[in-house]
Amino acid sequence: MSEKHDPYEAKDTGHEWDSIRELDNPPPRWWMIGLHISWISVVVYIILFPAVPLINSATKGILGWTSIKRLHAQVAEIEAVRKPYDEKLKGMDMEEILKNNELLTFAQGGAKVIFGDHCAPCHGAGGQGGPKFPVLADDDWLYGGTAETIVETITDGRQGNMPAHASTLSKKELDDVVQYVVGLSSGKVYEAGLAVFMGETEAEAACASCHGVDAKGMTMVGAPNLTDSLWRFSGTEEGIRYTVEHGVNDEEDALTRNAVMPAFGEKLSKLQIKKLALLVHQFGGGQAAVVDDEE
Ligand code: HEC
Ligand code: HEC
Repeated sequence: MSEKHDPYEAKDTGHEWDSIRELDNPPPRWWMIGLHISWISVVVYIILFPAVPLINSATKGILGWTSIKRLHAQVAEIEAVRKPYDEKLKGMDMEEILKNNELLTFAQGGAKVIFGDHCAPCHGAGGQGGPKFPVLADDDWLYGGTAETIVETITDGRQGNMPAHASTLSKKELDDVVQYVVGLSSGKVYEAGLAVFMGETEAEAACASCHGVDAKGMTMVGAPNLTDSLWRFSGTEEGIRYTVEHGVNDEEDALTRNAVMPAFGEKLSKLQIKKLALLVHQFGGGQAAVVDDEE
């Protein structure tokens, strides 16, 4: 370069500061090319795409591109992938879907978001439950753990009812039946309490009519198994006494325990409910259809 063109021979602009002279050299060619490419791309971009902001909108660009259109296109792409799966899910019954890993994975993936929006506030993000809401991730079911039953639960909601016994049992009967229930999960049988539980005493108790003669619960009325160590409300002596005294959802007892599962049949589509039921079923304690027929 220095042979062709000595930069120090260029025209002097006449400016000089501290013995530094300002020369009138043109910028290097690569730099000029870059400059032209830049402004040309800007002009082309402005012509093709929305660019210059106006008062209420912006220049539109001749391609007609908008970010909303792009979003719609992307959503349509995803829908197109989902649609055949959704169609299959709609047409199959739950037991069939449970045997199809690909469909099951698809359904559960979609259901996670719905669960997070509608169910997690009460049941916890992974169905782990809470002090007032039942665990969905174990195999202890109030109403039954087949996929079909779970669909019913979600669609119509559930409300377990246990009458308060504070006024129907004598103090002794109450003590006895509480002792009996406390003993159940450790395998101890407290005879006096057993009689109250079975409704063999004078008082109207007949716990067995809902919880079963074996106290293992009855899914038809949502009465829980009292013989295991999983407790819906509380398994302490005090907690059990409270449940027996005040009942569950007993409108006549102001201190009753509340437990209402809202109905989602109108808020969610059938397909969404189907997907949710498949997710809940797989949380850990789903039952096969045959097992549920035992009652
Ligand atoms: C407002 C709180 C609340 C919301 C929201 C809620 N649930 Fe429930 N759910 C409950 C309560 C309370 C029960 C227990 C009802 C009872 O004890 O009778 C229950 C019971 C259930 C059961 C029955 C469990 C069993 O052991 O049989 C299932 C299944 C269930 N819910 C699934 C769902 C799903 C899926 C959603 C989201 C679509 C959902 N729930 C949203 C409060 C809620
Ligand atoms: C009309 C039916 C019915 C009768 C009668 C009944 N229960 Fe219940 N019981 C239920 C239902 C339903 C639930 C669960 C409510 C829920 O979770 O929504 C329940 C819950 C309980 C619980 C709470 C269990 C837990 O996991 O925390 C205890 C304890 C209990 N019952 C004991 C008794 C005893 C003892 C008697 C008799 C004195 C009795 N029940 C009579 C229906 C009944």
